[in-house]
Amino acid sequence: MKKSILITGCSSGIGSYTAQYLHQRGYRVFATARKQSDVDKLKNLGLESLQLDLDNSNSINKAVGEILDKTNGTLYALFNNAGYGIPGAVEDLNRNTVRKQFESIVFGPIELTNLILPVMRKQGYGRIIQNGSILGIITMPFRGAYCASKFALEAFNNTLRQELHGTQIFVSIIEPGPIKSEFRKNAHKNFQNALEDKSSIFENTYKNMEKEFLSNKKEKIPFSLGPEAVAKKITHALESTKPKAHYYIGFPAHLFAFLRRILPDSALDWVIRKSSSKENEWQAKQK
Ligand SMILES: NC(=O)c1ccc[n+]([C@@H]2O[C@H](COP(=O)([O-])OP(=O)(O)OC[C@H]3O[C@@H](n4cnc5c(N)ncnc54)[C@H](OP(=O)(O)O)[C@@H]3O)[C@@H](O)[C@H]2O)c1
Repeated sequence: MKKSILITGCSSGIGSYTAQYLHQRGYRVFATARKQSDVDKLKNLGLESLQLDLDNSNSINKAVGEILDKTNGTLYALFNNAGYGIPGAVEDLNRNTVRKQFESIVFGPIELTNLILPVMRKQGYGRIIQNGSILGIITMPFRGAYCASKFALEAFNNTLRQELHGTQIFVSIIEPGPIKSEFRKNAHKNFQNALEDKSSIFENTYKNMEKEFLSNKKEKIPFSLGPEAVAKKITHALESTKPKAHYYIGFPAHLFAFLRRILPDSALDWVIRKSSSKENEWQAKQK
């Protein structure tokens, strides 16, 4: 019998690529997306697809119910992939913006995982993979909401791994970055919706961020990899008898995870300021 996997956020980027890759590898893939037009596109690619919006409990319950009906109540794996960033300085974020970010990256994936866990416990095995980020391990300025949500996801993931110790349900988290996808384009849209019209001490910084970082100049992002780099690690997490707890993907992810372990905060802050000063320039503009 084919191994089945539910993947969230398959309309583009990592989710889209991984869904097609695993389908070709012989998995029964339930590629979910929040828009019906994307579900239709995925079906046209030959995938089994249905709507799942992580911000909506009804949508999560409905999708899981439909999938379990098709699989006789079993599921080999869950890949909590979907997510987006809402850029902006911490002092410019309101409660609703932070809540929105947490709905999609923390609350939705936890709710979904908790619906799938009894299925895995009953069948006696399973794989749960979270799409984390190196920004769940280190922070960068103007990404406070995103970093906080990925730190929270990381904490839930690590706790769950400890709680499932001794079972055949393995939990992994991938820390990719940067990967070519629609992430920056979507972050730009989120920035425009949440912050663009508001006055801020960081006005010049934001203009610069929009120009240099958010305009989706994919080719300009140093060390960026294609989504196939992620699919390779996902395959290991799904197929190894000893999946890793953490998978770092790309040079920056490896480097910053290492620096986090060896550097004091002040030195790490300096490195982060230097490495992102071109896109942010906050030092100069704040004076
Ligand atoms: N690209 C990178 O460098 C990078 C680095 C580290 C981590 N990640 C993580 O990788 C994951 C995938 O991102 P990506 O790079 O592939 O970006 P992407 O191309 O923008 O894909 C994000 C996907 O998530 C979906 N999504 C967002 N909010 C959702 C919600 N509430 N419910 C259901 N689906 C939702 C999007 O759907 P819509 O099309 O409907 O918006 C889209 O399918 C994210 O969790 C991201 O944080 C990416």
